Amino acid sequence: MQLEIQLWKEQLVPYQLAVKELVVKFEDMISQYKQAGLYSPIEQVEGRVKTLSSILEKARKKGIPIEEATERLEDIAGIRLICQFVEDIPEVVREIKGRTDMEVDSEIDYISHTKPSGYRSYHLVVRYTVQTIYGVQTIPVEIQIRTLAMNFWAVIEHSLQYKYKGNMPEHIKKRLIASAQATVDLDYEMSQIREEVRAAQQMFKEKANLVADILGNLQALYRSENKDAIANIQSEFYYLYEHGTMDELEAFCRQLDVVAARRNVQKIQ
Ligand code: GTP
Ligand code: MG
Repeated sequence: MQLEIQLWKEQLVPYQLAVKELVVKFEDMISQYKQAGLYSPIEQVEGRVKTLSSILEKARKKGIPIEEATERLEDIAGIRLICQFVEDIPEVVREIKGRTDMEVDSEIDYISHTKPSGYRSYHLVVRYTVQTIYGVQTIPVEIQIRTLAMNFWAVIEHSLQYKYKGNMPEHIKKRLIASAQATVDLDYEMSQIREEVRAAQQMFKEKANLVADILGNLQALYRSENKDAIANIQSEFYYLYEHGTMDELEAFCRQLDVVAARRNVQKIQ
């Protein structure tokens, strides 16, 4: 038994590596979008390798011999990409299809075709190659793409499924179907105000950058200037921060840049 478990651990190594690599790759996509000042269609990335006990349980349920489990179960390595808006999902799918480091093997659209449980998500199974000390191996990875609302529902429903182990009481099933409909409505409503939400997020980001710029200058000036003069500039900043418009903050930021340049002060980033 000990030996078998050892073998199992070895068999799971490529799956663990695939999940690690893909989490890094998708998280880096988010960073790249942000660095470029662009909206990221992915909001959050999660990854997991199925536990040995879930693999055994699923193989038993599906009548798959244990020796074939790693070959035939397609979700031993799982990635979840969570988006803000339904419109982001096809964009993420397109990105994945355009990549050369993974190949889409199958896809299921549980958004257009909601499951009877109420479950919604877009599923892709991709083939992904990893290199380990045991050699090169191409394995399936299941990628679930869903909105925050779909994820909220699926996480809760999954816990309840686990709790009732397939014997979910009818009244709870009904509630879950009703709450699934509520997530459809929520996603729809959010889509309607998507442009406004995105503009607000953009403004928030611009303001955060501006404030970071101003504070960098203030801090640098503080080191080299008369402290009273800086205190005045600082209270002017606080006032503008509370009551000013973005244009006023921007003008203030530019003025401060000029002051700092005149004093030959290096902004602290
Ligand atoms: P599973 O045995 O559930 O993996 O079914 P499958 O391999 O035939 O594939 P399917 O596309 O139905 O499900 C794949 C995965 O999607 C599951 O492992 C879950 O993570 C998720 N999923 C599918 N249906 C549901 C559902 O009704 N509720 C929740 N919470 N998740 C689901
Ligand atoms: Mg599955």
